[in-house]
This record gives sequence, C-alpha cells and structure tokens, in this order.
Amino acid sequence: MSLTPLNMHGTRFGRAVEHPSLADATYVARRNLIASRACGHQVGEPSPAVSYSEEEHATWRTVHAALRSVQDDWGCPQVLAAREAVPVPPDRVPQHEEISDRLDALSGFRFTLAGGIVPNKRFLGAMADGYFHAVQYVRHPAMPLYTPEPDVLHDVFGHGIHLADPVFADLYRTVGQAAARVDSDDALDLISRVYWFTLEYGVTRTSHGPRAYGAALLSSYGELSRFARAELRSFDIDDLVRLPYQVDGYQPVLFTVDSMAHLADILHTFLDDFDEATRDRRNLPRLADRGFMNRPPIPR
Ligand SMILES: [Fe+2]
Repeated sequence: MSLTPLNMHGTRFGRAVEHPSLADATYVARRNLIASRACGHQVGEPSPAVSYSEEEHATWRTVHAALRSVQDDWGCPQVLAAREAVPVPPDRVPQHEEISDRLDALSGFRFTLAGGIVPNKRFLGAMADGYFHAVQYVRHPAMPLYTPEPDVLHDVFGHGIHLADPVFADLYRTVGQAAARVDSDDALDLISRVYWFTLEYGVTRTSHGPRAYGAALLSSYGELSRFARAELRSFDIDDLVRLPYQVDGYQPVLFTVDSMAHLADILHTFLDDFDEATRDRRNLPRLADRGFMNRPPIPR
C-alpha cells in the first residue's frame, strides 16, 4: 500500500508532509507489510498476530507513559474510568485479539482488521454489528508523540478505551445503525462529520473545565495537552456540518457537550431515525453545495 494517501490523514495529527515516516523506506516497508495483511480481510475474522520488534515495543512504552499522564490531566472522568477496564500493557504492543476479548466481555465490541483507509459505509456500518476497524502498525520511532495517520496506539488509547464503556459502545452502535440504513455519499458524509466532531474530537464541560472524550484527542499527546486553546463551541449539528475541515495541524474548532448524557441525547436524537431524507428535512447542505470544503479524512 502506498503511503501517498496518508496525506489525506494529515489533518488529524499534524503536518504529515514533514513526518519522517514518509521518507523512511525501511519504515514504509514495515508499515505496509503489516497493513497488507488486511487485504481480503472480512469483518469479524480474527486479526492475525503481529510479531512486533523491540523498537516498536519501545515506541509503545514511550507513548504509553506520556499519554497516561496527559490523559490524567485532560481526559473526561468517564474516559478515565473506562481506561481502567482495558488491558493496556505499559511495556509492549498488545495484540488485537487480546484487546478484543476484553472489550467483547465489557461491551460486545471487537476490533476488526484495517490496513488503512476504509470506505465510510464499511467503517461506520460495521459498528452496528459491534466491530471497529483498527490497524496494527506502529508510528515512526523518531516521533513517538506525533503521527500523521492513526496507528495501533490511536486505536487502543482512543477507541479501545471508549469501547470498554457500554455507554460509549452504545453510541458507536448508534452511529453504525444509522450508517447501515443509508447508502448515498451525502448521507454517509453527514454521519461521518457528526462522528468526527464527537467520538473523534469531542469535548465535554466538567466542573474542572473542558475535558476531552474524543478518541483522536485522547490518543494525541500534543493535541490533548492543548485542545483547550482551540475555539470551543457549543455542540450544534447545523454549525459543524458547514465547518471546513482543518487541513494542516490541529483542529481549530471543537464542539462541546454538557455531559456524556447530553452527548447520548444528541446522537440518539439525530441518528435514531436517520435516513436518506434527513439532510433535506433539516435543510443541511449537500456535498456538491460545499465545494469549498475539504472532504474529511476518512476515519478508518
Ligand atoms: Fe479514530
């Protein structure tokens, strides 16, 4: 798999064009070897075990130590509670199956293998059946606290923690069930944007100030430690679907809910009866009407 499409993910974690992974042929070959095992993989099949190198384990240890600390400071209480239920070893990269077995017992979710970009219909729709597409490769060792694409650390420290909590798992299923009911790019894009600004980049108010609950924030040392400097707006679907995506660097605008119960109410209200006519009923713009916008990086 070429690394070229990774530039599409540059918005998520910083300046992809400057990242050493793009010019390191040895890294690219290793990353692509691991990713290639997702070719032909069917949703629900067990992920093959990966024999991680000592260098990859060392990267995990570095990120684990840094993220735990910054999550303690900036993660919302529900996330910190869920984190305790997940077997996230401090010293080695865990295998998908050991994470999945634990999540399955807690919420009925399992990881299913992805090698990179997954189409919205498959990625979002699989959540309806309790499967979350996750990758196995590890970010470049030269920049352990920053990656231009989601890696196994993002999936475990972000989505894995979420899916240990039945309340979060219900929200993933809600997203998936909405996606399973529609097929058009417009409808899937709308769901993807709501997913993006909640389960990837969501912020909640707490008695101690804003705290992050989105997986992309939770798994990014740099962004988690400074997300409160972004423009924090009250959650508004009509607002967020019109917002251009940040194409270089951290997200400049984040949407804030009052609580996890508020988030659940928002998502269920919008998604429980979501269908192909939702966009028209709510007078939301179509993709073709938003030509000035960048398409969001597809959340694999
Ligand atoms: Fe993600």
